[in-house]
Amino acid sequence: MTAMEVIGSPVEMSAWSDRVRASGKRICLVPTMGFFHEGHLALMRKAGEIGDKVVVSLFVNPMQFGAHEDLDRYPRAFARDCELAGQHNVSVMFAPSPDAVYPKGFQTRVEVEGLTGTLCGRSRPGHFAGVTTVVVKLFHMVKPHSAVFGEKDFQQLAVIKRMTIDLNLEVEIVSHPIVREKDGLAMSSRNSYLNAEERRRALCLHQALQLARGRVAAGERNASLLCVEVQQYIAGCAGAEIDYVAIVDSETLVSCDEITDQSLLALAVKIGRTRLIDNTHLLVS
Ligand code: PAJ
Repeated sequence: MTAMEVIGSPVEMSAWSDRVRASGKRICLVPTMGFFHEGHLALMRKAGEIGDKVVVSLFVNPMQFGAHEDLDRYPRAFARDCELAGQHNVSVMFAPSPDAVYPKGFQTRVEVEGLTGTLCGRSRPGHFAGVTTVVVKLFHMVKPHSAVFGEKDFQQLAVIKRMTIDLNLEVEIVSHPIVREKDGLAMSSRNSYLNAEERRRALCLHQALQLARGRVAAGERNASLLCVEVQQYIAGCAGAEIDYVAIVDSETLVSCDEITDQSLLALAVKIGRTRLIDNTHLLVS
């Protein structure tokens, strides 16, 4: 295995990609905001199966954080992240500075409409425009053939898939299932905000998903009844505040009346000051 390169300059990144492309090799990108956990590492392994060369981008993107969100306290561990990526067959860690990504005078936004108006988009206005803008820029800087995204952020995945079609971006979008802790909590860099008590309370998200899957396995097909049941379950959990509980079509994100194999149950719940998200397909065909 050759040593991983760390590149900060977009120009250098593009030049590296031009050389790799010219040699006929395929580049797979894993976009991240760092503070790696097993979820990120699983994406890197998947990228290694798809591409000849894996690039991981690490950029805590200011544009996707709201004014009162956690940009300043977002967890960072650059040296450790480089070490972990280096152990996962990553060729380049691309870690540009905010000034390199958003040069002086920057005034362009890429925005997907419709899909971003519900669920997380409703409670985090502007968030997805920040995501799509930076992802398009990363695609231009890294020039990957494919990119891997996690199903944990299912709305982000749907929005990015839509954007690549709408803007004719020649990047294949590959998804990876949610990676969980042993007790079921979906891995997230933000789990590091939870104290011991909150960490226990955070299990209610996964438990609510399990409850719903159980009901569907037993024959329930009425989405609104199931939503109410899940809401009641979470409302009964100490220290949990619901942002949304929704059953939607996993591609269009439109609410379902009847549960089908396309239906996704999605949750956003605040545990203390920390907003957590999770989701599951309800029927596996
Ligand atoms: P970040 O939260 O660092 O996540 C990077 C990638 O890891 C995303 O595709 C996310 O869905 C995936 N991921 C996170 N937790 C996961 C888990 N438990 N299982 C599987 N995949 C998981 O998502 C972002 O960064 C940013 O919005 C980004 C796309 C990089 C744009 O700034």
